Amino acid sequence: MATITLTQTDAAAGRLFLRGAQEYGDFRDNLQRDGFAVIKGAVPRERADQYAEQMWKFLEDFGLGFDRNDPSKIHKDFLPQINEKGMCFGYGLPHEKFTWDIRSEPGVVGAFEKVYDTKDLIVSFDAVNIGFPNRKDLPENKPWPHQDQNREKPGFRCLQGLVNLLPSGPNDGGLIVCKGSHLVSEEFHKAFEDEKDRIWAWTTEWYGFTDAGMTWLDDKGFVWEKVCMEPGDLVVWDSRAVHYNLTSTTDQPRFATYTCYMPAADASQEDLLRKKKAFEECKSTTHWPNAVHVGGLPVLRDGEPDPYHYLVPKSGRPQLSERAYKLTGIPYIKEEAMLVQ
Ligand SMILES: [Fe+2]
Repeated sequence: MATITLTQTDAAAGRLFLRGAQEYGDFRDNLQRDGFAVIKGAVPRERADQYAEQMWKFLEDFGLGFDRNDPSKIHKDFLPQINEKGMCFGYGLPHEKFTWDIRSEPGVVGAFEKVYDTKDLIVSFDAVNIGFPNRKDLPENKPWPHQDQNREKPGFRCLQGLVNLLPSGPNDGGLIVCKGSHLVSEEFHKAFEDEKDRIWAWTTEWYGFTDAGMTWLDDKGFVWEKVCMEPGDLVVWDSRAVHYNLTSTTDQPRFATYTCYMPAADASQEDLLRKKKAFEECKSTTHWPNAVHVGGLPVLRDGEPDPYHYLVPKSGRPQLSERAYKLTGIPYIKEEAMLVQ
């Protein structure tokens, strides 16, 4: 595939928030107002069910004897490493066939095209969420309200997303968002500029809210909303919107795939080269599609590198459609940049 040359106008003059509030008559109105929005049926129900089935199969084929019909097998001895937040980021998952198929779903990528006002996008090589309720072998999933954006880099910079694959009602596991908090992010960070007890973050593109921060939001009258979704629904949220996730208090498991995109024009050539290497090595990124971090945190089992971890999916290296291949960012690397590698 030939190199795609981006011009300044590809940086999307119509990008949400860039021109101030305006009416769109679709999910973008909710996104502007609330900092998040649900796109119902972004993935047709039949295909969403197939993706959920592929996730069950992934767990059952993992090789440790997991069986979806045996609740006693919902234990780390039978499963890949999944933390208490449901995050599973090893075992080839960022490049599994079903994760790439979900990322390439027209209703998913199309939502991001609308928000950024461009089709020239790149996608994250992100984690999958596999949340089982009532796990006694994991610590409690305590709230960790946060923004996924550097507090020193204000403005709308990144839209996150996840495709939900199992029912997620009010008491089931899923995303919870502080409604409208994206709009006061700058005001908040001015007020907390000299914060003494700042929460440690392993990346600058993350900010954790302390009790004082939560009180500040409460005092301003902000309310939290647990996002309810059906299989195939996509939720998108502004990285500035304060959020975390909840574990199910019912017996309903949670399956979701993170799908985050940004304009290719927002990534530097160095970013894209780093992303190309990550793709070729089947490595993960965080939700930031410009591959600000590659490889993520180590996959550990009982404190040691997990011997069951692997990079290349069992389904093989990804065989991508033309649309999906563009989302790797590789076609946006200039020939000169390729030559100086
Ligand atoms: Fe987050």
